[in-house]
Amino acid sequence: MERGERLCEAARGGDAAAVRILIEEEEVDVTYFDGEGLTPLMYAAKHGHAGVVKILLDAGAPWNALSPSSLSAGDFAMDSGHQEAFDLLVNAGVQAELVLGTIARTVRKADSSDEDYLEDRVTFSEDKLMDSDRKAVMMAWEKPLMEAHAKAVCSGGGHILNVGFGMGLVDTAIQQYAPIRHTIIEAHPEVYDRMLRTGWGDKDNVKIIFGRWQDVLSRLESYDGIFFDTYGEYYEDLREFHQHLPALLKPGGIYSFFNGLCGDNAFFHVVYCQLVSLELGNLGYSTQFISLPVKDCLGGEVWEGVKQKYWQLDTYYLPVCQLSDDSE
Ligand SMILES: C[S@@+](CC[C@H](N)C(=O)[O-])C[C@H]1O[C@@H](n2cnc3c(N)ncnc32)[C@H](O)[C@@H]1O
Repeated sequence: MERGERLCEAARGGDAAAVRILIEEEEVDVTYFDGEGLTPLMYAAKHGHAGVVKILLDAGAPWNALSPSSLSAGDFAMDSGHQEAFDLLVNAGVQAELVLGTIARTVRKADSSDEDYLEDRVTFSEDKLMDSDRKAVMMAWEKPLMEAHAKAVCSGGGHILNVGFGMGLVDTAIQQYAPIRHTIIEAHPEVYDRMLRTGWGDKDNVKIIFGRWQDVLSRLESYDGIFFDTYGEYYEDLREFHQHLPALLKPGGIYSFFNGLCGDNAFFHVVYCQLVSLELGNLGYSTQFISLPVKDCLGGEVWEGVKQKYWQLDTYYLPVCQLSDDSE
C-alpha cells in the first residue's frame, strides 16, 4: 500500500500511534490526497478522531484543503457532529487566517478589485444589480436580511450611516425608522446617478456622500448606527473599516455589516465569523450573531443569469456589534 494511503487509513481508524510514526519516522506527506480526493485530515475529522486531527494539524496538514465536492475537513467534522475535532479545526483556521488571510480574498461576491468594478458599467433590473461580468452586486432575495440589518442599526434612533447603496434596500428600510439623519456613502457613478433620479437626494433627512468610503472619511461624523455593505472589496478593506469604528460609532451605537464572508462554504464561514468577531473584540466591540433562515429566499430561479452563486448556506448570521461593557 502506498505510504499516503497508509496515513489515510491510520487517520480513518483513529490510530494516533501509527499516524505519529508515519509522519515522524517515515516522513509521509500530510498534504497527500487519496484516489477519492480526500486527505488524512478529512478522514480523521469525518470519523471524529480529535487526537489524530491535532497531530495532523501540528504536522502542517492543510486545514483548508477541499475535497472534490468542495468540502473541507471542518465540513466533515461539522456534518458528522464531531465537536472536538470541529473546534480544533476552527481554531486552526482562525489562527491561520489571522496571519495569512488566504480564504476570504473577497468580502462580497466579486473577485475583481474595487477599482475595476467602479469603472465598469452596471445593469439594474427589478430583482438585481449586476456588474459587466454578470456577477450580482446586489439581489432582491436579500431584502429580508437588509430589513433585519436596518432594524438592528436603527434600534437606538439618531444618526445612521450606510456604506454602499446598491439597490437601496437597506436604505429604504432605514427610512422606515425615520432616523434624525441618514448618511449614505456610494462610490459607483451610475448607482449614484440612479439615487439622484429616484429622489434620494431630495429627502430631508438624507445626506449622500459620493465617493469611496476610504476617500471620504474626513467628511464623516459619529453615528448611532452604522451598516457596511460594499462590493468588490477584500476582507482587508472590511478590517480597515473596523479600525475607524472607534471614531465613527458613538458609545452605545450599533454596528452591523453584510456577513457574506465565505458564503459558499459552511465551515469557512464559521471560521470567518469567529475571525471577525475576534478582531472586533480586539478593538473593544462585542459581536452577537442573529441566525436568520434564508433557504426559502433562495428557491426557484433566483440565480438565473447570474455568473456566481455567492451565497449557498441555509442560515445567515447577522452580526450586531456594540462597544463591550468593559470598554465603555
Ligand atoms: C452590495 S451593494 C449594497 C447593497 C445595499 N446594502 C442594499 O441594501 O441594496 C454594494 C454597494 O457598494 C458600493 N461600493 C463599492 N465599493 C465602495 C466603496 N469603496 N465605498 C462606497 N461604496 C462602495 C457599490 O457601488 C454598491 O452600490
